[in-house]
Amino acid sequence: MGLCTAVKKVSRRGKYLVLIGLLLSVLAWITTFSGETDKTFNVILAPSQTIVSENKLREKLISQTAETSRLNISAEKEECPEESPLLVGASKLSFEPSLTLKDVENENKEVTEGEYEPSYCKAKHSVAILIPHRQREKHLLYLLHHLHPFLQRQQLHYSIYVIHQAGDATFNRAKLLNVGYLEAIKDFSWGCFIFHDVDLVPENDHNLYICDQQPKHLVVGRNATGYKLRYKGYFGGVTAMTKDQFFKVNGFSNNYWGWGGEDDDLRVRVEQQKMTIVRPPADVARYTMVFHKRDTGNQINKDRMRLLGQTLKMWRSDGLNSCSYKTLSVERPPLYVNVTVDIGQPNS
Ligand code: BGC
Repeated sequence: MGLCTAVKKVSRRGKYLVLIGLLLSVLAWITTFSGETDKTFNVILAPSQTIVSENKLREKLISQTAETSRLNISAEKEECPEESPLLVGASKLSFEPSLTLKDVENENKEVTEGEYEPSYCKAKHSVAILIPHRQREKHLLYLLHHLHPFLQRQQLHYSIYVIHQAGDATFNRAKLLNVGYLEAIKDFSWGCFIFHDVDLVPENDHNLYICDQQPKHLVVGRNATGYKLRYKGYFGGVTAMTKDQFFKVNGFSNNYWGWGGEDDDLRVRVEQQKMTIVRPPADVARYTMVFHKRDTGNQINKDRMRLLGQTLKMWRSDGLNSCSYKTLSVERPPLYVNVTVDIGQPNS
């Protein structure tokens, strides 16, 4: 064999060797890395499986959340209808001498600390009822007895405040109502206030205890006066004003001690602000006055005509912004908030 032939043989064998070497290393690589490939595969699979299950979880969560919020939406109360289906119209009022406060509490289990809101729908109106009071326990009882179910049939969110004048100075209805307003707004942002005499009981629940675009007078007639408006500008007994309307007129005057004039003074304030008094229809705005003796002697405000002559001059400085008083107690029995207050005395 010549040198050339020998070199060719070696290089051919080299080629084989290289080929075999390559094959072996491929085999070795496969053997070495097949496990790792599996592992890698597993590693890849494991998180992807986690992602899948997480996704499932998330999906489940999303569907649960949707369900929850659907439930929440149905749990969230719908707004009460424009007109309450619970209204009954004119009703016969009874004033049972044997009635007790406990009876009225038992009949109104959903009222707490004087406050109520329907549990089954979201009330459209929040109203504070303010009742000035002194030594008229029986009247108060009758009024609470009728007023609570009356207001509940109207599907209102409401609270009843009784503002009790302490001491024996002459009664001042208007100042007590200013106090009631100032105390009630500490509890809640009431949008509407009903200024309510303790001895007047509404007869027809279509007489809505809600406010209007204009100050509203709710007593067109009462039994004692043949259900006729007492006079054209009469604005006494029960009136409804929004927070803004009442604020605009600076509330009531604080200077009317004794019976009469304070409601006329409020009318002058309202008119002075270019507001007009509105009233519900006469067949609806009817009240029964619980019988009592009329105020006489020094219970009558003999100064009322003089004061009335000064309203336009005085209203800015005499009213909510000058109402000074001392709260003696705020009690919260089941049926009303009882504010007992020292409002001073005439010329104090
Ligand atoms: C008084 C009012 C009272 C009205 C009706 C008027 O003379 O000034 O305060 O509400 O009579 O009794």
